Amino acid sequence: MKFFIDTANLEEITEAKIWGCLAGVTTNPSLYAKTGGVLSDFESHMQKIAELCEGLPVSAETTATTIDGMVADGRRLAALAPNIVVKLPVCEAGLAACRILADEGIRVNMTLVFSATQALLAANAGARYISPFLGRCDDIALDGTSQLADVITCIKNCDWPDRNPDGEVEIIAASVRTANHVVQAALLGADIATVPMKVLKKCLHHPLTDAGIAAFEADWERVANA
Ligand code: G3P
Repeated sequence: MKFFIDTANLEEITEAKIWGCLAGVTTNPSLYAKTGGVLSDFESHMQKIAELCEGLPVSAETTATTIDGMVADGRRLAALAPNIVVKLPVCEAGLAACRILADEGIRVNMTLVFSATQALLAANAGARYISPFLGRCDDIALDGTSQLADVITCIKNCDWPDRNPDGEVEIIAASVRTANHVVQAALLGADIATVPMKVLKKCLHHPLTDAGIAAFEADWERVANA
């Protein structure tokens, strides 16, 4: 399973890149708002992320609510950089805009997916990536993991050779709130997990590792001073 980072924060993306395990970035309107960014800077900010992550897919979300608006937004976002992926919500307008953009060779990440039926419609409409949400299911006592399992099984049961520019669909486990979500997504066969920096750090750090590093350093200090 690949790791994307779920943030619009340039410092967090830079830090994750240094780790050498970053395969992409996902953003959304809330994550951009969290950076304190303003409307007039949105597209240049997405461009900075795309340049920082050259060659890696960077999802930038439209905020339009109509088919024409989503298509216009999507064309503009895709023109910012070759690695920009256009993020659309899974709804009637989102499906229609996805088909139009996919037929123009633009990669789409269909987001806010909460069911296997939504995922199947998104894949048929030309989504290159599908983002089922885990955490928001758990927030209302739904089992996000079982939804994710259904999405993965239904999508992976089929090939999608001619539905989107790359002829394949990858599933991005999103709304990841814990390291366990990451493990569950990998065990279920998600292609990607898009993870906030604070959860990435929880995935990395383990008290026994930290204690072991400290012990090695202390013992080596004794060797060095013997
Ligand atoms: O990529 C979707 C993600 O940003 C949503 O996460 O925690 O707002 O449900 P969350």
